[in-house]
Amino acid sequence: MSELVKRYTASVNFDKRLGLVDIEGSLAHAAMLAKQNIISVRDLADINRGMAQIKSEIENGEFNWQLDLEDVHLNIEARLTALVGAAGKRLHTGRSRNDQVATDIRLWLRAQIDDVVMALSQLRSGLLTVAEREADTILPGFTHLQVAQPITFGHHLLAYVNMFGRDVERFLDCRKRTNLLPLGAAALAGTTYPIDREFVAQQLGFEGVCENSLDAVSDRDFAIEFCAAASLLMMHVSRLSEELIIWMSPRVGFIDLADRFCTGSSIMPQKKNPDVPELARGKTGRVYGDLMSLLTLMKGQPLAYNKDNQEDKEPLFDAADTVLETVLIFTEMVQGIVVKPESMRAAALQGFSTATDLADYLVKKGLPFRDAHEAVAHAVKICTQKKCDLADLTLDELRAATDLAPEQQALIDPDVSHCLTLEGSVAARNHIGGTAPNQVRAAIERLKNALK
Ligand code: ARG
Repeated sequence: MSELVKRYTASVNFDKRLGLVDIEGSLAHAAMLAKQNIISVRDLADINRGMAQIKSEIENGEFNWQLDLEDVHLNIEARLTALVGAAGKRLHTGRSRNDQVATDIRLWLRAQIDDVVMALSQLRSGLLTVAEREADTILPGFTHLQVAQPITFGHHLLAYVNMFGRDVERFLDCRKRTNLLPLGAAALAGTTYPIDREFVAQQLGFEGVCENSLDAVSDRDFAIEFCAAASLLMMHVSRLSEELIIWMSPRVGFIDLADRFCTGSSIMPQKKNPDVPELARGKTGRVYGDLMSLLTLMKGQPLAYNKDNQEDKEPLFDAADTVLETVLIFTEMVQGIVVKPESMRAAALQGFSTATDLADYLVKKGLPFRDAHEAVAHAVKICTQKKCDLADLTLDELRAATDLAPEQQALIDPDVSHCLTLEGSVAARNHIGGTAPNQVRAAIERLKNALK
């Protein structure tokens, strides 16, 4: 093999990351071989002893990874043989690197899924803490990035708690299909030895075994599913990031982010930039890229194992690292959000955010909704000309501004003022899923209980 080919085909530089799960898989395989009298109890003891030493060498950064030995599997096997002799050479009985690597990735990914799920729970409870604190804080809700209706900040944050909740479900669902054992499939067709696959599955905490040997060695669906779930998660993070960036812009000024999540500029002394959310928004693209890499990698591969599959690791590692770090940093960052309620309130008071409430008021007094809509649109037009808000009009001015027939104008009573206030507007949306502060608190209670 030429030096160039050796470098081109070797994977040890990145798959050494699977070292510890590779040992875990080998120990379970060896235990099964001994139980089935395929290797001796003595061999098993040698293997266990050698692997214990290799494990500590890897953990202490003392293991000598060699490019000449191609990948993590051959590196560990060679070291084992150097340490314990013949037993090391027997370890690979009834096994191939094809089912071995598939097992390693599943073991590794399962642990990653558990970490991501745990981190997402912490992010969700962090968001809940802020949502609870800000259950009464009013800001404008937007559609088309135009002021729409007043909402509470707690309610806004709960939207993300819900999104991240669906992400948790997706990761847990992907975990089910990840948590199956490929070992026993050997190279592709199974093996002639009297193996016990269920035993190995049990040893490794797998839910069951992969049913078909060809599928077992070539399936990477679980990795793609993980990257798909990771992509959706990052899409949510990116939307939140975009909002944080907009809210922190001095033009909007709804929030401030703790200094430790921001950076300055090397030229503009006044700057405080929201680097963390910007980077998260950027890293979203990279996780989508990882998903596309894996989908494209698998497309068109004939059964069963092909060396193409070696290319599955870097995108998968990258996606897992990126989402985990992103979720961890967001957990800290969201709890450091400094809310500026006066700016939020001032913004909600502009843009006629309670216009819908006035229309609803007229409907409750008997007007058809379309007529009410038109009357309020007229009143808004008058206010725009006068450069004032609906709530600034006297009762008579408001009645006239609707341009309704006099008997319909008379339907507008002094109690209308309540529905024109921000507090009245949010409090009136008092049903499950609505923005009323007491509904927000009830939703927080439900979410907290579900998170327990
Ligand atoms: N390093 C390889 C991979 O990551 C291990 C499997 C190699 N199998 C083979 N038949 N060459 O996929």
